Amino acid sequence: MRKISFFDTTLRDGEQTPGVHLSVERKVDIARRLEKLGVDVIETGFPASSKSDFEATARIAGESGAVVCALARANDSDVKIAADALSGAKKPRIHVFIATSDIHLEKKLGITREEAIGAVKSSVSLAASFGAEVQFSAEDATRSDREFLVKIFTEAIRAGASVVNVPDTVGYAVPEEFAALITYLKENVPGADSVRWSVHCHDDLGLAVANSVAAVYAGADQVECTVNGIGERAGNAALEEIAMILTMRGKEADIGHGIVTREITSASRFVADVTGIRPAPNKAVVGVNAFNHASGIHQHGIINDRHTYEIMDPRDVGLDESTITLGKLSGRHAFAERAKALGYDLAKNGINAAFSRFKEIAEKKDALTDEDVRAIISEYLDGLEGKFRISSFQIQSGNKIKSMALITLSAGDEEYTEAAPGDGPVDASFNAVNKIAAPFIGGGDVDLLSYGITAVTEGADALGEAKVRIRSGEAVFTGRGVSTDIIKASIKAYLNAMNKLIAAAEEKGGNP
Ligand code: KIV
Ligand code: ZN
Repeated sequence: MRKISFFDTTLRDGEQTPGVHLSVERKVDIARRLEKLGVDVIETGFPASSKSDFEATARIAGESGAVVCALARANDSDVKIAADALSGAKKPRIHVFIATSDIHLEKKLGITREEAIGAVKSSVSLAASFGAEVQFSAEDATRSDREFLVKIFTEAIRAGASVVNVPDTVGYAVPEEFAALITYLKENVPGADSVRWSVHCHDDLGLAVANSVAAVYAGADQVECTVNGIGERAGNAALEEIAMILTMRGKEADIGHGIVTREITSASRFVADVTGIRPAPNKAVVGVNAFNHASGIHQHGIINDRHTYEIMDPRDVGLDESTITLGKLSGRHAFAERAKALGYDLAKNGINAAFSRFKEIAEKKDALTDEDVRAIISEYLDGLEGKFRISSFQIQSGNKIKSMALITLSAGDEEYTEAAPGDGPVDASFNAVNKIAAPFIGGGDVDLLSYGITAVTEGADALGEAKVRIRSGEAVFTGRGVSTDIIKASIKAYLNAMNKLIAAAEEKGGNP
């Protein structure tokens, strides 16, 4: 059986999803989930691009048993930084990339094809000199000249790359053509048999998974993907979809993989919680409707025999309905056990205090489901990281008066209070938060791109989950807040996004 490697880039390309900013701690948490999920390679980030990517790579390298991979442009400085970040890894991989299409070479890099080849030779051999495995990617491969691709892959292999990656960077390829490209490269690159061939597909035309699978059938050995398909623009190929396609259909072609499919649902929900990006309800494998049968005819068929309308057993992706609900009488132990089953190790993450938050909500709500517990913990984790917390708020609102909010936020031992009017209580609260935050973000404008509130579960006592997206300059930040009080949930969500903006401004020493 030919084993396909899963190269997960949730922490690198996935983090490039607009509005997603993962702290080092959350990257480490996700990496632990990915290892449990059985991925072969974890791409942790681009160490030369930021301090936090460097630190996350070093932290994950120090504890992971998987191959830990760091991205580097094809230059000596990036490669040295990546090697340094990976120095504690048991199985380090340096991922060197350069664009190969003429449009990227001319318009983005301003270099010739020959100069690109020179950069690849020197950076790949430098990467190999650190003793790490080296992967080379030809960015925008699907819009590159085929003969030039053969040349650059040949040089990368000669210089020491043992994995070569063919990215469909802009999601332009269609399956037949992409499969043919893999076949062509494998037939024409000298030394092709001595390396592993990888593919990296984006979803601009909704074909990322189809292209990846077509490439696997054409001989690719590694697929690059992200949990829930998150990533730049329309995202990357979804790990869970490729894993289930190969599980359901791979055997016919003698193709296997090491993904522990029963971990899929929990990994998907974990990544959705941490990133704030929920899969669409109709998303294959992990959408909330993926195993829901609504029509009477289908329900009837399912009752008689599940296989009438279900090709996958929901239990194979870890979708077991929990029968346990927690409530105000539940103790710390029951809460910790439930949290653990949902993928949160309270002891490891040092979040035992999440229990008091749980108790606070359990006092107001009869029964807390898994979704409630998940929302409470992930919101608590988000709140741990920000500069400001809510100390108190007072809102004045009505149909005959202008809404006013008076908000006090704490940052360490300091308290900051501001009042602001607004068009309704939520707007007034956001304006008050803006006034407090202004000095910490260089005073620039903050635009509210979206705001929404949904019930986490059903019923009159449901928890409200507020989500916001804000923009400062080019940077977008998302925030989430949970409470039985929707105004409080809204302020928390806004503050959560604002805290991320402040952290980004601090990392850059000014405006993000
Ligand atoms: O999409 C792309 O081409 C990439 C490369 C860095 C592999 O993400
Ligand atoms: Zn990409």
